[in-house]
Amino acid sequence: MTQRWTPASWRERPAKHIPSDYPDPEALARVEAQLRGMPPLVFAGEARRLKSLLAEVAAGKAFLLQGGDCAESFKEFSADNIRDTFRLILQMAVVLTFAGGKPVVKVGRMAGQFAKPRSEATETIDGVTLPSYRGDNINGMEFEPAARAPDPERLIRAYSQSASTLNLLRAFAGGGYADLHNIHRWTLGFVDGSPQGARYRELTDKISEALDFMGAIGVTPESHPDLARVEFFTSHEALLLGFEEAMTRVDSTSGDWYDVSAHLLWIGERTRQLDGAHVEFLRGIRNPIGLKVGPTLEADELLRLIDALNPNAEPGRLTLYGRFGAEKIAARLPALMAATHREGSQVVWAIDPMHGNTLKTATGYKTRPFDRIMAEVRSFIEIAQAEGVHPGGVHLEMTGQNVTECLGGARAVAEGELADRYHTHCDPRLNGEQALDLAFLVAERLKAGRDPATRAAAE
Ligand code: PEP
Ligand code: CO
Repeated sequence: MTQRWTPASWRERPAKHIPSDYPDPEALARVEAQLRGMPPLVFAGEARRLKSLLAEVAAGKAFLLQGGDCAESFKEFSADNIRDTFRLILQMAVVLTFAGGKPVVKVGRMAGQFAKPRSEATETIDGVTLPSYRGDNINGMEFEPAARAPDPERLIRAYSQSASTLNLLRAFAGGGYADLHNIHRWTLGFVDGSPQGARYRELTDKISEALDFMGAIGVTPESHPDLARVEFFTSHEALLLGFEEAMTRVDSTSGDWYDVSAHLLWIGERTRQLDGAHVEFLRGIRNPIGLKVGPTLEADELLRLIDALNPNAEPGRLTLYGRFGAEKIAARLPALMAATHREGSQVVWAIDPMHGNTLKTATGYKTRPFDRIMAEVRSFIEIAQAEGVHPGGVHLEMTGQNVTECLGGARAVAEGELADRYHTHCDPRLNGEQALDLAFLVAERLKAGRDPATRAAAE
């Protein structure tokens, strides 16, 4: 790892899950050159700002909420989808901020989350074998040879969709839509209609009182414009390194390299090989970065990865996303947390309770039971507290749309209902109600962590 890093040095390393079957490699090179000339999607100073907020999370003073689609798609691209997921993240953040008594750092899995690692390189239907679908920025989902061939023009379309998405997110974040009073009003609407409404109302009543009090003493969006603005960041898995390389530039204010395709980039569970291309690429960019930590990772290898990715133990630089599954987390996480704690690694520990809890129903739907998702979050918080580590955040696959992809939640989506609105391009997402259910349940836990007297009530 001591060799010189360049935005292209990953090309000397074994690279998993990056398509090598572009029919016209020269066309791909042309598109990458074109992307190198495109404006950055984010500014390096914003990435530094997110890193400083994540340093607060690492220090136990803030909480990370990261969420969005498993995979964005060209077909589901619409202002309503972007707005609804954004709004949902803000609603969850208010609930979590109030209960935890700490600021919530809001990061969308949005505006660039297209490419997917696939467990199988090919798919066979009725004796016909084609390359797997790898995400809309690589190939098409239709089971036809032409659609499944990687097409470099899709990278341009993904760039442009990311730019439009970010533009709208920036407008919502700064243009008054994110007014705290609006957000709270939407949450009151959810609570009124929820089968668990009575349970949630105590918390929302307190938020209403706090807002009334603030209004009474003159703290209003008119007097304090920050009440109508939020800081919102974007992130995606840095899988397709040719694209990420093309979006990596020297920041003129610091002279450092930043990947300006998103504020935060992470390494997936399947591409975290120490000597692999993805670790090589991400070690050299100065953005805040993430690493998925699954059930096969041992503590010594994790420490080596941390050494490669954050050699100076810079707080906020590296977020670890545990993703073990509700059944495995208790056997795997404590040793890993103990190791990072012992080494003073300054990492953020967060939980991705989605990817270890996927199952297939008898009717062939890939789904995730809400109870298992929640069980993994609960274990995460308990283990972190036992290890003296801050349970720093959650990373969720979710959408503001009323889909039926995950089972359960307060409204109890049943197996027979999955077919009703199963729209995902990849993994099953929590719908808006399920995501808010989760936020309220996590809020109860965080509150119990602050105040032992209420811990019993949350058990
Ligand atoms: C994902 O976040 O969509 C993903 C593929 O996760 P993981 O790398 O943890 O399997
Ligand atoms: Co996924």
